[in-house]
Amino acid sequence: MTQQTLFTDCTVATLKSGQPNYGLIEDAAILQRDGLIEWIGRSGAVPLKQSEMDKQSLQGRLVTPALIDCHTHLVFGGNRSKEFEQRLKGASYEEIAKIGGGINSTVEATRAASFDALVSASLRRLDDLISDGVAVVEVKSGYGLTIDDEIRMLQVARKLEELRPVKIVTTWLAAHAVPPAFKGRADTYIDQIVIPGLVRAANKGLVDAVDGFCETIAFTSGQIERVFQAAGSLGLPVKLHAEQLSDQKGALLAARYSALSADHLEYLSATDVEAFAAAGTVAVLLPGAFYTLKETKLPPIAALRHHDVDIAIATDCNPGSSPISSILTAMNMACTEFALTPEEALAGTTRCAAKALGLSGEYGEITIGARAELAVWDVEHPSELSYWLGGSPLHKRLSHGIAA
Ligand code: NIG
Ligand code: FE
Repeated sequence: MTQQTLFTDCTVATLKSGQPNYGLIEDAAILQRDGLIEWIGRSGAVPLKQSEMDKQSLQGRLVTPALIDCHTHLVFGGNRSKEFEQRLKGASYEEIAKIGGGINSTVEATRAASFDALVSASLRRLDDLISDGVAVVEVKSGYGLTIDDEIRMLQVARKLEELRPVKIVTTWLAAHAVPPAFKGRADTYIDQIVIPGLVRAANKGLVDAVDGFCETIAFTSGQIERVFQAAGSLGLPVKLHAEQLSDQKGALLAARYSALSADHLEYLSATDVEAFAAAGTVAVLLPGAFYTLKETKLPPIAALRHHDVDIAIATDCNPGSSPISSILTAMNMACTEFALTPEEALAGTTRCAAKALGLSGEYGEITIGARAELAVWDVEHPSELSYWLGGSPLHKRLSHGIAA
């Protein structure tokens, strides 16, 4: 049976592409039918007989597309508060990684945790995101670093989708760090674990995209390119942790492979942005990692804007460089640290984040045919979503057109 609701008495920020001022519609109504947006416009212009419809007043609230966190490492065991203390005493992220801390210490804790323990630790973080109005979360592997442990991480990620009304998008990130068993043999690790593991995980339907960490403490662009070729032969899209700590030209490699996104980008050279822009690859900025690592080098925002690169914002939720499970906090940081406008920050967690996950048109915009995944807020203006820090002004989320 058709399920149809007319939401009335609201202001809607549609975030539709090409529309100024958040795509704001005052005194708006939204018609959802079977979980899809059937119509959106001024309340006086509803095209159907309202008496025949299930109506719900939103009592003057603001409606936006539900938010999207397009870059997380949500599934992990343990935490790294000890490294937080070391960094506060002056140790750098790279130094800690080189002496066996960093990603590899989370690998140990993740391998040691049971499936259920990983699910419940991840659920807490997922619930934080949901209470910020998030409906789509990308989750990477990368703390297993054996074929079985990487696959298990993605199975945990898929389990989360059964437990909460969210969409989980999974990413194979076995090329995250060279594990101790392969020390000094990164190429062998790529050949024996990253690529055959990817094939196995993909055959199990566990992989939506493929990522890597292109950095001096991780993998060279040549090694990442081999992973990208394997992804291509499986028909999977790629993305990359690029130019986070140094300029390895990873963003250009990502662009050559028509990557969905290149992420971090503090060390991306402004002169490389033009080539990057031509690929339509989204620049995912991660202000939580910038903040946590006390980075001072800013991503080339002016050049990204100049070349019309779509900019997304994500939490990068992880236990090392970004222990942040609030997308609204990431938006605030993007404005304060990177001087994004609140409108850019909101586009960065809706329309542009959807593009970074290959979900354009389906999520991240309130437009006819898109999914009725909406966030209803107790705020007067969408700029407030980036302005408040701590606490969430979410009134409720609508998932599949129904209160979630
Ligand atoms: O996105 N840069 C690599 N990966 C993560 C950090 C992971 C970790 O430190 O555990 C990031 O910042
Ligand atoms: Fe990351």
